[in-house]
Formats: sequence, C-alpha cells, structure tokens
Amino acid sequence: MIGHDLIVWNDDLVTGIVKIDEQHRILVNSINDANTRLAADTSAELLNQISRDLLSYALYHFETEEELMQEYNYAEASAVDSDLHLQQHREFSAKVVALREGIKTGDLISREDLLTFLNGWLINHILKMDKRLATFILNKDSTVKR
Ligand SMILES: [Fe+2]
Repeated sequence: MIGHDLIVWNDDLVTGIVKIDEQHRILVNSINDANTRLAADTSAELLNQISRDLLSYALYHFETEEELMQEYNYAEASAVDSDLHLQQHREFSAKVVALREGIKTGDLISREDLLTFLNGWLINHILKMDKRLATFILNKDSTVKR
C-alpha cells in the first residue's frame, strides 16, 4: 500500500517517453523532498511553499502531456482514456488549490494526509493513465525521444 513513505523510483514507473519520465522523476524527487522537510516542520509557511511549488510544476507537467495528447490526436483515437486522463489532471489541481485555501485559513492538512494523497495519486496516475498514453504514442511513433 502507498502511504506516506518516500517513493522509491523503479522500472514499473518508466513510461518509455523520455520527456515524461524526466518530469516524473523531478515530481517524485520533489514529493520525497517535501516529505523529509515536513517531518521536521509542518508550519503553514512551509506547507504553503511546498504546495505552491508542487502545483506550479504539476501544471507545467500536465501541459507537456496534454500537448503530446494533442500532437498524437489522443482524444480522437481514445476518447474515454483521454477524457479520464484530463479529468485526473484537473482533479489533482483542484485538490491542491483546495488544500492551499485551507492553509490560508489555518486549516492545515497533516503531513500524513498530504503525502498519502500525493504519493497515491502520482503512482496510480503514472501506472494507469500515463503508461496507457505512452503506449499509445509509442505505437504510433516508435522513434519518439522526447
Ligand atoms: Fe498524466
């Protein structure tokens, strides 16, 4: 089960698309870094900083994937997967925006809840949605090195 332990990068998480994999490694590293820092300090300031940086990198990363979806016409070829994928990106962003609202009003998310959400969401999303997208792209273009 995924809890709030550090994420260990492993081959199961590799999608095969270099650009996506590099960004996933950066996300995993920042989540692990947040985990370590929050063990020593769960102040509103740190939670605010961590959630802000994470949201901004996640949005940039979602944009990368969504540009690839457009480039390879994912929505036309695989509407259900494409819709669900976009929906998961939106839900992630909405959840982080909501927890940032909480931080602002003094309703701080605990380190455990934050990390359980982040770790669980990312691993589940990579293993299901991102790998499915990568398989689709690699089937269309085996020379892709992004
Ligand atoms: Fe994704």
